[in-house]
Amino acid sequence: MAETSTATKRYAVVTGANKGIGLEICRQLTSHGIVVVLTARDEEKGLEAVQKMKDSGISDNLVVFHQLDVADPDSIASLVEFVKTKFGKLDILVNNAAITGAVLKS
Ligand SMILES: NC(=O)c1ccc[n+]([C@@H]2O[C@H](COP(=O)([O-])OP(=O)(O)OC[C@H]3O[C@@H](n4cnc5c(N)ncnc54)[C@H](OP(=O)(O)O)[C@@H]3O)[C@@H](O)[C@H]2O)c1
Repeated sequence: MAETSTATKRYAVVTGANKGIGLEICRQLTSHGIVVVLTARDEEKGLEAVQKMKDSGISDNLVVFHQLDVADPDSIASLVEFVKTKFGKLDILVNNAAITGAVLKS
């Protein structure tokens, strides 16, 4: 039944996931049957990463792209709306994006 499977499914968002550790975290999560929102600040890079995952055999149902720049409030609001509307909940947030928030001056 669709309702039951939606209720028991787990959903994750990974930030900065178009490459490196973030992309690998996406792979690992999907290998556990978790639905992953692969996010990237650059849409083209993010879509390429999703395609790479699909090409490696990961099911279409387990990975979806959404743009997210963690330093842009409008972008964050858009992702929140997307998750609320599409899944109604979020189980896991992996804030991997390489941004410290600190500005270092020499
Ligand atoms: N690799 C290590 O040995 C190591 C060790 C300790 C901690 N870490 C931490 O682990 C995390 C991932 O490391 P990594 O080696 O995989 O880094 P990476 O290959 O440099 O990847 C960083 C990711 O963060 C994204 N990003 C940067 N600023 C962003 C923003 N404002 N909004 C959204 N995404 C943003 C990058 O997007 P673009 O491609 O668009 O730049 C990229 O996808 C980082 O937080 C890093 O500090 C890594």
